[in-house]
Amino acid sequence: RVAYVNGQYQPHGQATVHIEDRGFQFADGVYEVWAVFDGRLADYEGHMTRLGRSLSELRIPAPMTKEALTRVLRETIRRNRVRDGLVYLQITRGTARRDHAFPAEGTPPSVIVTAKNLNYPRSEAQAAKGVAVVTQPDIRWGRCDIKTVGLLPNVLAKQAAKERGAAEAWFVDETGLVTEGSSTNAWIVDQDGKLRTRDTQANILRGVTRAAVLDILASEGFELDERPFSVDEAKAAREAFYTSASGFVTPAISIDGAKIGDGKPGPVATRLRARYIEAAR
Ligand code: PDD
Repeated sequence: RVAYVNGQYQPHGQATVHIEDRGFQFADGVYEVWAVFDGRLADYEGHMTRLGRSLSELRIPAPMTKEALTRVLRETIRRNRVRDGLVYLQITRGTARRDHAFPAEGTPPSVIVTAKNLNYPRSEAQAAKGVAVVTQPDIRWGRCDIKTVGLLPNVLAKQAAKERGAAEAWFVDETGLVTEGSSTNAWIVDQDGKLRTRDTQANILRGVTRAAVLDILASEGFELDERPFSVDEAKAAREAFYTSASGFVTPAISIDGAKIGDGKPGPVATRLRARYIEAAR
């Protein structure tokens, strides 16, 4: 078998993309699967139209013209001698040093195509008998407690933040409460001077830095109120900050343009940052 990878046909077993491909690290990509009957692409236009839409919704530039892409699909079918089977196409935002926000303009998207024959007699036999199905709750993707690489919503949030001149985006649930950041846990020092952060039972990532900061709070004599806060509470807070392995403790000075406190890093966040770095070193 042969696979198309970024302009080259390679033996399927040796066909690879870079370890910093955004598809691999962030699920930052799109795909299509075409059925192949008698060597021809089924529902060609339907899949092409959806592909174009997926790319444009994610603002991934088209890697080549539709005609060129179609030639690649056909050539992959031909080289794999597929008569009745499937063609798989995946396009990612390309390879770049890991950062949630989009890479520099001009970063070429990655394109891979594979094709395989299907066992039609087996498919027919299964269809003749019929199959069983089971139900599952639709939680796509509601398991934010798992540190999965399925980070596309986080990528889009970080990019939106960047485009609005911000360093981080805080996710807000349907009731107006802050859940966590796109790659950080969110905190405030409320008007009573208490540290507030959402509890980790509530479908957020159990931040390791968050846990380390919780340990520091006790020894520093800060008061903790481990429950979620609203956007309005954050805007009215004395301080706001976020925690992560990459940013340690980072003071936030505004939310959606509204100044927090006096618009400067506050004493609690500043103290916690110093103590965290001291303890972690
Ligand atoms: N992000 N919440 C989310 C969604 C995260 O991705 C992260 C970490 C955190 C903070 O967890 P910790 O304190 O264990 O780093 C919270 C890493 C830094 C990243 O994706 O780059």
